[in-house]
Amino acid sequence: MSYRKINVNSFPSNFKWGVTTSAYQNEGAHDKDGKQASIWDTFTNHPNFKHGHGNEATNFYENYKEDILKIKELNLECFRFSLSWSRLLPKGIGKVNADGINFYHKVINYCLELDIEPWITLYHWDLPQALENKGGWTNRDILKWFEEYVELCSYEYGDKVKKWIVLNEPMSFIGLGYFTGLHAPGKKGINNFLPAAHHATLCQAIGGKILRKNVKDAYIGTTFSCSHVSPVNRLAKHKKAAQRIDAMLNRFFIEPSLGLGYPKDIITGLSVIESYFAPGDDELMKFDFDFIGIQYYFRVVAKFSLLPPVLFATEIPAIQRDVKVNNMGMEIYPKGLLKVLKKFSAYKNVKDIYITESGVCFDDEIIKGKIKDSNRIKYFKKTFEFTLKAIEKGINVKGYFVWTLVDNFEWAEGTKARFGLIHNDFVTQKRTFKKSALWLQSFLSKNKSTVKKKEKKSELSV
Ligand code: BGC
Repeated sequence: MSYRKINVNSFPSNFKWGVTTSAYQNEGAHDKDGKQASIWDTFTNHPNFKHGHGNEATNFYENYKEDILKIKELNLECFRFSLSWSRLLPKGIGKVNADGINFYHKVINYCLELDIEPWITLYHWDLPQALENKGGWTNRDILKWFEEYVELCSYEYGDKVKKWIVLNEPMSFIGLGYFTGLHAPGKKGINNFLPAAHHATLCQAIGGKILRKNVKDAYIGTTFSCSHVSPVNRLAKHKKAAQRIDAMLNRFFIEPSLGLGYPKDIITGLSVIESYFAPGDDELMKFDFDFIGIQYYFRVVAKFSLLPPVLFATEIPAIQRDVKVNNMGMEIYPKGLLKVLKKFSAYKNVKDIYITESGVCFDDEIIKGKIKDSNRIKYFKKTFEFTLKAIEKGINVKGYFVWTLVDNFEWAEGTKARFGLIHNDFVTQKRTFKKSALWLQSFLSKNKSTVKKKEKKSELSV
């Protein structure tokens, strides 16, 4: 593989570099100081779940200062994290938990003290269990519940935080949580998927509108899981299958917000979703986001298939295609990032674009105190190159947030899929910089000479 020589100065000077984490995957303290269960607490503590639980995760709840300091040390300027709904509103609605409110004030204050810009994600998949007991995302009342939650967050933190993200990857949490059942709350089937998806589309816009109303100078976005989708070969039936998967994975949640409705042009059976519409929903789904977040991990190769109905298309798993994969079996294909940037920037009303997540997981092992994760460095080098190429082509990419800071609780994979720049020992919670962290620290340094020294000093610092 050949690399272009680039460094941080190759990017526009206002390009933002950041790192993303999420509440459930990091905070731990699952029942501390008034927090009550989210669907992920319930899901991972169920005997059928075989990959551990996130009760302690990386204990960010107690280690937040140490971790935010590391963000600073890595020369990253922005920290994107999510709020735990059931820490703030233990039952999802009603009584507010003052300790929960206070925790995020401490996190935000510490970021500001270190001159790190906090970016808040309102919803990164951890619905309060009390709301799931009432049907969760399938119940239209979630529009009111979400409204109450966003009112509270924007009222509490809106003076200090200006960068807001409404949802993290709706197709992931709705598809995996309410169609395949692989994620919490483990619901399956089209009759769960369709109402849950429609309510998430509405909440995406409702959240944006509340933030606009409550937060002065807010810069508001939402994020999408994006995949480059190719057909297995040129046969028309496979090309059409790829278009349908593309519509499902890439178009489903952005187009309603832009006023284009759901992609029924390609997936004709999708018109059944209209049975969940109430009068006025076409308008309610729209919101003029200031930016969108692209989250890119893998590409998809698609073929025609009789199942599942409605979609009549399926993905050919990467492991059957003789390509490089990460340790979750996803194809490592950095060029796909450029392709999705081109695709999403082609929408007329998309304004700024941020890569709000991208990263890769391997079985990193500590060998004599060091973690030489050169594959991860290669991934970032290549995706940074493609990001720069996108900028050179005139695409309005304004920032790149690495996924993720510290190896964490990777949802249905438990702790075995490690995406962090920093290794975590889940028994001792000891953090160790991987080689990729040191590489990034050096890449992001605008003053190379000081970093060389720092790099030596802090090599594998803890
Ligand atoms: C999610 C993260 C997750 C990452 C890696 C993204 O879809 O937002 O929470 O850990 O993918 O699987």
